[in-house]
Amino acid sequence: MQMLALYSIKGGVGKTASAVNLAAEASLSGRRVLLWDLDPQAATTYYLREKAKVRGGGVDKLVKGKAALEKAIRNTEIEGLDLLPAAFDSRELDQLLEGRKNSRLRKILKPVFDEYDLIILDCPPSISTLSEQIFSSVNALLVPIVPTTLSLRTLDQLRQHLDKQDHETPIWPFFTLVDRRKKLHNEVMGSLREQWPAQLSTHIPYASAVEQMGLKQAPIARFAARTNAGKAYSTLWDEISRRMG
Ligand SMILES: Nc1ncnc2c1ncn2[C@@H]1O[C@H](COP(=O)(O)OP(=O)(O)O)[C@@H](O)[C@H]1O
Ligand SMILES: [Mg+2]
Repeated sequence: MQMLALYSIKGGVGKTASAVNLAAEASLSGRRVLLWDLDPQAATTYYLREKAKVRGGGVDKLVKGKAALEKAIRNTEIEGLDLLPAAFDSRELDQLLEGRKNSRLRKILKPVFDEYDLIILDCPPSISTLSEQIFSSVNALLVPIVPTTLSLRTLDQLRQHLDKQDHETPIWPFFTLVDRRKKLHNEVMGSLREQWPAQLSTHIPYASAVEQMGLKQAPIARFAARTNAGKAYSTLWDEISRRMG
């Protein structure tokens, strides 16, 4: 069982779109996938047409390890893809995890490890107790980057932070919302290659098909698989899955 997180300090960079699409691609390729929506805004939950509710006692019980995890997990309309939804009380996750040992998040999921090949976390944009838990629980952080100078700075800040806290979590950045017509985008993308050899080489273009996920309430593979963005997510998943081994 491998665990990945879509993580960035920044909001609006495509974490949720990527979490949903990569989870769908992974399940289409035959993996048994669990997607955990850790963001109280519950966008992932919405995209997958589920109610924002953690059944079986809320996140409080989940963190204490008392809730039947199975009760909270929902099957989605996509075969092989299950969801652990967010709820309004997911805001409390931070507090609830305060003072807990590293990898607590991973331990919470232990009862279902055998049922999945891959667990993907969609994270809220912050550095907090929750993010420390994420860093110590996952095999790698997938970090979407919009190709601007500021985004590169946040990537460096993240690396410094991980170093300081002695986390050895690999950072795998990839570009999203890419507009090849923009000179700046091309320049930034060229410069990242040297500084971040671990970056994924697949880029996700800026595409209306991704924006439409909200309307369709479905991953792109369900309604626009053959568009550039649809193919890009499929290629990105292949690249990630090869790298995980
Ligand atoms: N590749 C893309 N092309 C066009 N719009 C995108 C793309 N990726 C994300 N978006 C849009 O940008 C907004 C933020 O994306 P989202 O995945 O919610 O970011 P985050 O989870 O990092 O806050 C959403 O409205 C989404 O539809
Ligand atoms: Mg999000």
